[in-house]
Amino acid sequence: MKNISVIGSGTMGNGIAHVFAQHGYPVALLDVSQEKLDAAILTIDRNIARQVKKGMVREEEKPEILQRISTHKSLPEGLKEADLVIEAAFEDWEVKQALFREIDRYAPVKAILASNTSSISITKIAAVTARPQQVIGMHFMNPVPVMELVEVICGYATAQNVVQQVCELSRMIGKTPVEVTDYPGFVANRILMPMINEAIIALQEGVSGVSGIDSVMKLGMAHPMGPLQLADYIGLDVCLSILTILYEGFGNPKYAPSPLLVNMVKAGFLGVKSGEGFYTYSSNGKASGISERFKS
Ligand code: 3HC
Repeated sequence: MKNISVIGSGTMGNGIAHVFAQHGYPVALLDVSQEKLDAAILTIDRNIARQVKKGMVREEEKPEILQRISTHKSLPEGLKEADLVIEAAFEDWEVKQALFREIDRYAPVKAILASNTSSISITKIAAVTARPQQVIGMHFMNPVPVMELVEVICGYATAQNVVQQVCELSRMIGKTPVEVTDYPGFVANRILMPMINEAIIALQEGVSGVSGIDSVMKLGMAHPMGPLQLADYIGLDVCLSILTILYEGFGNPKYAPSPLLVNMVKAGFLGVKSGEGFYTYSSNGKASGISERFKS
């Protein structure tokens, strides 16, 4: 596989494009507006600069990496050369199914179609295409240039040679693939989201405050971020949507999203992206303190 098309230029999409371009692959990055694509290129530029500062990338490589990324607003144009398409669009079933019908229409017949979905069934996505054996999940973690894991999700019809090719490609870009089967939340979010939910329930019950709960997990379990800070980082709306998929998928009340999480999402307190969640954030995404609502 040589040519990679990435659909969606948000946090995950631009991170995925960055990593493939860094490892020598030509990337077609697609989104609906040139404004979004330009913002994504600026983000990639900034993140490569961080890698240059750390000595992970040589200064002279930076323009070469950026040159490997072309931007496109038209699906037929951005998919025409693709060997692998990675969809990293909005996490919504209606959006994904409409998009996969279009991707299936325009991507070359041999192309593998992957979704970076965090919890939507790969089998269900594959079923809207005419090539379910070539549809697979490639679940990258945020921030993509830093996190080593790619959760590779095999749908009911995914062919074994497709799984092998995707695992091999993941290694080529410096990641470690872990194969999992298509089950609600796969493995990463089935384990991560109940932990985040439990932290929110503990906060709601007054067992400890924001800083106390996060400190316990950082200092006691060596997590780089506490669960409440991580929830803000992922986006509280994303956490709620994944928990809802787990709750409905298993029909088990242990996955029921905490009422506090539901209320915060309803009120638009989504974490880093909205400027406030459990913490408050400045415009560059840095935490500036605990939200007033959780101070007492
Ligand atoms: N691009 C390139 N490099 C980046 C980067 C980016 N976007 N973000 C951070 N970095 C680098 C920094 O340059 C730095 O490099 P160094 O270790 O060589 O000095 C390193 O990463 C650490 O960054 P910072 O010093 O800015 O900040 P922190 O030390 O606080 O680390 C963090 C930031 C890497 C995000 C760390 O806090 C962390 O690992 N947090 C947990 C992240 C996590 O759990 N991600 C998974 C979320 S779940 C998910 O994605 C699944 C979805 O389905 C919900």
